[in-house]
Amino acid sequence: MLLLLLESPHYLLPALHKNNSRVAVLGASGGIGQPLSLLLKNSPLISELHLFDVHLTPGVAADLSHIETRAKVQGYLGPDQLADCLKGSEVVVIPAGVPRKPGMTRDDLFNTNASIVATLTEACAKHCPEAMICIIANPVNSTIPITSEVFKKHGVYNPNRIFGVTTLDIVRANTFVAELKGLDPARVNIPVIGGHAGKTIIPLISQSTPKVEFPQDQLEALVGRIQEAGTEVVKAKAGSGSATLSMAYAGARFAFSLLDAMNGKEGVIECAFVRSEETESPYFSTPLLLGKNGIEKNLGLGNLSAYEEKIVGEALAELKGSIKKGEDFVKNRK
Ligand SMILES: NC(=O)c1ccc[n+]([C@@H]2O[C@H](COP(=O)([O-])OP(=O)(O)OC[C@H]3O[C@@H](n4cnc5c(N)ncnc54)[C@H](O)[C@@H]3O)[C@@H](O)[C@H]2O)c1
Repeated sequence: MLLLLLESPHYLLPALHKNNSRVAVLGASGGIGQPLSLLLKNSPLISELHLFDVHLTPGVAADLSHIETRAKVQGYLGPDQLADCLKGSEVVVIPAGVPRKPGMTRDDLFNTNASIVATLTEACAKHCPEAMICIIANPVNSTIPITSEVFKKHGVYNPNRIFGVTTLDIVRANTFVAELKGLDPARVNIPVIGGHAGKTIIPLISQSTPKVEFPQDQLEALVGRIQEAGTEVVKAKAGSGSATLSMAYAGARFAFSLLDAMNGKEGVIECAFVRSEETESPYFSTPLLLGKNGIEKNLGLGNLSAYEEKIVGEALAELKGSIKKGEDFVKNRK
């Protein structure tokens, strides 16, 4: 058993730590929110789990509260209870918002999700301005600039504490490379940089651990599959939504890494879409060293192959457009 634990990746090892973090999930009754809350409830890193949504939270909270782990679960329903949900939260994870249907891009969700994210993060800025904010709601390339602008408006902006959760892109890259090379996916690590939509998703296969190589045609097919993996799930679900279970796993992995780092664990690295000076795009995902106060150090892009440099260049215009759209949304909002 001990050997098995020692062989597991760090994000599967919260059982070795114990502490008292307060975590809130906004959108907790949804396709992602429910399994994400289940995974969080299972973690001894968390002592209080607050679940907010506009429907179903009393039921979801009652259900999860019977699980024999120590996190105390409390449900909060509707806007009147949002402040109470957030007060004292150290980490807030936000999967609230509508998912894609076949034929839609993530940007097609902007009109609905921009105001949901702006409203929820406004409440975070007022009631838990110091919390780590982890946004899952799409389009992430716009919802992170929205969150940053909202925090700026309230005078509580700290770019080291606002994260666009892109972990699912890393999880997918690890899985697909492991499948192609006959490796254990838990032992593969591929940084994925850029943003979280189509061509802005840039897996750095040249920086894979362990090192792997592909002929150029196979490499391009692999990169294309990682970029369109979300659409693969949207099509397979045939109108009933997008990735929920794998996203819940990825969201929990990111939250556990963050909590570990906040508790003083050293050397915790995750990619996320954040405020960045690494390229001409004002927000960009790269590997980040996490610490007690969020981002401790941006580890940058590293050495790129000529092909990776090309696809980064091709992503910048779309990224900057999505970022501006998010910033303008908050500027024009009453
Ligand atoms: N970052 C990623 O990699 C990634 C991956 C998959 C999905 N997503 C995104 O996550 C979001 C959620 O997806 P889902 O499949 O869980 O959708 P869903 O429709 O199943 O659930 C969304 C939940 O949000 C709730 N909600 C809506 N407005 C709210 C508000 N104002 N306050 C609180 N809760 C509110 C809904 O009631 C619902 O329970 C979508 O935007 C989707 O595109 C992101």
